[in-house]
Amino acid sequence: MNCENIKFMRVRYDIIGDIAIIKIPKRNDKEVGILIANHILSKCKKVKVVATQIKPAHGEYRVQKFEVIAGENRTETIHKESKCFFKLDINKVFFTPRLMYERIRIARLVNHGEVIVNMFAGVGTYSIVIARHSKPSIIYSIDANPDAYNYMLQNIEINKFTNTVVPILGDAREVIMRKLINIANRVLMPLPELAKAYLPYAILTLKNDGGYVHVYDVYHRNRGETINDLFNKAIRDYSKILNNKVKYFEFKLIRVTRKIGVRLYQIVMDIYIVK
Ligand SMILES: C[S@@+](CC[C@H](N)C(=O)[O-])C[C@H]1O[C@@H](n2cnc3c(N)ncnc32)[C@H](O)[C@@H]1O
Repeated sequence: MNCENIKFMRVRYDIIGDIAIIKIPKRNDKEVGILIANHILSKCKKVKVVATQIKPAHGEYRVQKFEVIAGENRTETIHKESKCFFKLDINKVFFTPRLMYERIRIARLVNHGEVIVNMFAGVGTYSIVIARHSKPSIIYSIDANPDAYNYMLQNIEINKFTNTVVPILGDAREVIMRKLINIANRVLMPLPELAKAYLPYAILTLKNDGGYVHVYDVYHRNRGETINDLFNKAIRDYSKILNNKVKYFEFKLIRVTRKIGVRLYQIVMDIYIVK
């Protein structure tokens, strides 16, 4: 949904389903926020709830905290993206609409019949977009947050991918060690906080004849550094980890997925690995 009215007001916002999440400028207080929120509700008919973030993504499950400041008093919604539907509660699970391009980019890389392991699947976003736009044989979708897992179950049903997307509740490392060794053509690691620590398990789940790992990490760009310096730093770090662990690796692509703070960038690396 694209709400021109909010854009016009120059308020920073995200739309998740029918919830508008606005960023109230620091100099403005909550009352100004409520005025803006009510204006949004009156001008933008698709928005039913206006919320504002009170705590950024935190903890193991990377959940943010939002406060509803106008409209219906709820935080559950259904978000539509790339012909998929995602039911979720913004106060119980991680979700950002800002990775829409990244999800469809990955989906378009997937070859017919691939076995995929999504180590940090959330409510099923990447897995369901891949199932909708490509023809993998199976996508194992792991998440440790019981709320994310429950929404993933519902989203698999809603989008009708019960034959392709297999939801698994648990810690990705334990699940892989228990039952997903040497099976994947492609592994997704959309959790920067565990990228380096869990890379060995991504390698374990890859097939013996090799495959792709999509690693997401966060890098800080120091004063005077360019984005290319930052990419080189990431390539050096990951080469160090991979050098002693695998027979062959090649960085196929590295790009910024989103800027998440002052000189702070989330990046993705598509790495081809033969172990
Ligand atoms: C940044 S979110 C990404 C979710 C989803 N891929 C998306 O983009 O919407 C990371 C997810 O990893 C899950 N998680 C955290 N630690 C985990 C672990 N050890 N094993 C499996 N999932 C984990 C969190 O619950 C969260 O849903």
